[in-house]
Amino acid sequence: TPAAVSDLIAAHVLDVPDFPKPGVGFKDLTPLFANGPAFAQVIDAIATEYGGAFDVVAGIEARGFVLAAAVAYASGAGLVPIRKAGKLPRATVSAAYALEYGEAVLEVHADAFEPGSRVLLLDDVLATGGTAAAAISLVEQAGGEVVGFSVLMELAFLDGRARLPERDVHALLTV
Ligand code: PRP
Repeated sequence: TPAAVSDLIAAHVLDVPDFPKPGVGFKDLTPLFANGPAFAQVIDAIATEYGGAFDVVAGIEARGFVLAAAVAYASGAGLVPIRKAGKLPRATVSAAYALEYGEAVLEVHADAFEPGSRVLLLDDVLATGGTAAAAISLVEQAGGEVVGFSVLMELAFLDGRARLPERDVHALLTV
């Protein structure tokens, strides 16, 4: 049940204060990834939520890769990596997004998606929503259709959903 999955995530996340900088509370999901049965249950929950409704999975560097690879395998779908600037070797499209100080850039290969292919976008945490908004823009620039954005944890107090209007945003655990 959804309640069981949210409890599972809550039981396997560690709150790390003042990381990566003072005042920031980091959600460390490595204990969840390290637990085989818990990880499998979470992956199955995501794959089931969107069962049959996507053609390809896109994961956001770096922790989104962990989820995207597993969901892709569980679904028989392929995987497209959305990467930090300068990592992909061929022609890319790019999108900038705001960080606490300055900005960062995400990229995807320009030919990554078949035109009109249905893309399930995955990341571990939704915080301010800047990363997700940039990733959605990238998928669309590259010709894909974003059918959903799914995360393990949503930090509701940062209101990232406000930056993703009209989007199907799914969080297994909201805190
Ligand atoms: C974290 C997290 C999300 C993003 C969420 O990634 O994995 O991708 O921040 O934050 P936002 O909603 O405020 O944009 P990070 O930038 O730490 O990159 P990493 O996974 O490569 O360490």
